Amino acid sequence: MSAEHLGEPATRTIAAWPGSQAAWRRARASLAGGVSTGLRASMPPHPLFFDRGAGSRLWDVDGNSYLDYVLGWGPIIVGHSHPAVVTAVGEQLHRGQTFGSGHALEYEVAERLCARVPGAQRVLWSNTGSEAVQVALRLARAHTGRHRFVKFEGHYHGWTDQVLVSYRNLAEDGRPALGSAGQHPGVLADVSVLPFNDSAAVAELLARPDSDIAAVLVEPVLCNTGVLPPAPGFLEDLRALCDRTGTVLVFDEVITGLRMASGGAAERYGVTPDLTVLAKALAGGFSLSAVTGRADIVQQVTSGVVHAGTYNGNPIALAAAAATLDLLGGPEVYPRLEAVTAQLAEGLRAAFARHGVTAAVHHVGPVLQVSPGVTEVRTVREVLAADWAFYNELVVQALRRGVFLLPGGRWYLSTEHSAADVTQTVAALDDALDALSRAGAVPVPATVV
Ligand SMILES: Cc1ncc(COP(=O)(O)O)c(C=O)c1O
Repeated sequence: MSAEHLGEPATRTIAAWPGSQAAWRRARASLAGGVSTGLRASMPPHPLFFDRGAGSRLWDVDGNSYLDYVLGWGPIIVGHSHPAVVTAVGEQLHRGQTFGSGHALEYEVAERLCARVPGAQRVLWSNTGSEAVQVALRLARAHTGRHRFVKFEGHYHGWTDQVLVSYRNLAEDGRPALGSAGQHPGVLADVSVLPFNDSAAVAELLARPDSDIAAVLVEPVLCNTGVLPPAPGFLEDLRALCDRTGTVLVFDEVITGLRMASGGAAERYGVTPDLTVLAKALAGGFSLSAVTGRADIVQQVTSGVVHAGTYNGNPIALAAAAATLDLLGGPEVYPRLEAVTAQLAEGLRAAFARHGVTAAVHHVGPVLQVSPGVTEVRTVREVLAADWAFYNELVVQALRRGVFLLPGGRWYLSTEHSAADVTQTVAALDDALDALSRAGAVPVPATVV
């Protein structure tokens, strides 16, 4: 749907992205998919190509600026190119890129994680969330001598074979479902997929003598599907059930770590897992991940569990992490992030109401979710049943008005998003909704199957 069709004044909106379109055409001739992940390729109306970012803003190759709520799909917690991060990385660049042996940043930043993440007694560094999840599962298997693990419907733990199960493609009967062509079907034997927030289902499975469950792997706040919080008591139930059965409780805090609170979701909800996986916000935009947790489990890397990686403990990423941790250190940081996100949620609710558009807007900490066509979302299936085609149209209209959004309804905020940014964003979304309603676009009410 073009701006012209919507009768918008050309001066107020971005009519087209010739530079991004040319780059997109050229990129596809050499780069598989034209951008570096399939999800980025699916961003409506087509991926934009960016030139630079600063604070809460991005500039595309056509010279348009955007308030950014994509934030690199999560990591940019202190804004783009924060001067403190740039300085720390710049200084490290002059001291070397990777040493292939020990250096001070490795243990200094590990000490800081142990001081802030509940239950963190030892740290392992790796590079991406997907990798760190693999290490956590291997540690859990070695520790318990068991082979299988529990995950929950709609939870995402990376793209690798064993965990890319029942994320988007849910089987009607709740059986584990593969997520990709080329994935080995043998992985399905090693995983039990249960509904999120269903303690009874976990209790029933763990009580079976033949369940062979080494780990319960959970996004403590289900950010990847609808930003669904844990039901009251659910994380506590997981903790108690894992204690009773000697199962390793793994919180995948790739999104929530350093974002929901200084000590992540574990701190926010007061439940300490055995292992925590961190990535994204950890290094403020650089590639760094970690597994932290109980010393007796993590220390197994010195007694038979193999954990390798050329770039593990990379000093550039760790310099960025040290600067990011400094910036996230003050007592005002998380309350302010929460307040700015609440202001955004209020503004968006009012904008949807003004246009008579049904949509659920809620947030957990600085992660906000918009679900069109429903008044509330409590389950994964309710989230999936929202009108995502309408939302994609809204994303395009927001882009035309200088607001960059993810598909799927999730918005990330950084410490650099101000009250004035939020006011500007809400005005842009109000205008975008106005354009959609003039074009007769309304969300279809959800039917949950
Ligand atoms: C909860 C969660 N776990 C794991 C991953 C995988 O992390 P990465 O993309 O760094 O491999 C992601 C990525 O979005 C995630 O959201």
